[in-house]
Amino acid sequence: MPVPAANPAHGRPVRHPVFARFYERLSEAADVQSGVRAHRGELLAGLGGRVIEVGAGNGLNFARYPAEVSRVTAVEPEPRLRASAVRAARAAAVRVPVSVVAGRAEALPVGDATCDAAVCSLVLCSLPDVQKALTEVLRVLRPGGELRFYEHGRAQERPGMVRFQRALDATVGPFLFGGCHSGRDPVGEIGAAGFTDISFRRVVVPQDGPVFPASFHVLGGARRP
Ligand SMILES: C[S@@+](CC[C@H](N)C(=O)[O-])C[C@H]1O[C@@H](n2cnc3c(N)ncnc32)[C@H](O)[C@@H]1O
Repeated sequence: MPVPAANPAHGRPVRHPVFARFYERLSEAADVQSGVRAHRGELLAGLGGRVIEVGAGNGLNFARYPAEVSRVTAVEPEPRLRASAVRAARAAAVRVPVSVVAGRAEALPVGDATCDAAVCSLVLCSLPDVQKALTEVLRVLRPGGELRFYEHGRAQERPGMVRFQRALDATVGPFLFGGCHSGRDPVGEIGAAGFTDISFRRVVVPQDGPVFPASFHVLGGARRP
């Protein structure tokens, strides 16, 4: 199956070749060791109908979609990760049809109100314009449609770590980690964009052992009003 090419109408491609190689090689094993894989299952549990996944990376969520999902449109702008996602979509463990497409969160390549649910996992940290992207997610969700999110962000009640996150984000962090900012406030951003019924829980990853700037996760859902 050929890798879908970028359409200029959906924004310029994102290119992070070094990060993409690193993520492709290490993310699957890191998911298992850190407990992220279990959180992905919780992120997707109970979903059904048409789903858009924003910034799908190498497709680590694909095998965890429930059978009630009729189609996943997986949007990924980075060419190497998109090629990986195409391979992941064909794996035997994937129970639902997954179409991998090029595109950016800020200009999602699907029509208004065409999706029952949207999924953002570990992606809001990497977007140049989070509000624009969330406004796009609102546009493509049907009224009452659900956003599921699993994101990392600002360390709560750890001022030393918050200072470290700020310093990292203002210097080498985005350059080293594919545009990632460790200290954003994903739940605040989701609320500011106009989602309602926001519910979430905080998880620290890994649960035991040392913490890192990207250890402070939120796992939850919200709705388009
Ligand atoms: C840390 S990876 C997470 C990948 C995947 N969502 C996961 O859970 O493993 C961040 C992803 O965001 C993607 N990304 C970066 N900028 C983006 C944009 N403007 N629109 C959509 N995705 C973007 C990257 O290419 C990458 O796949």
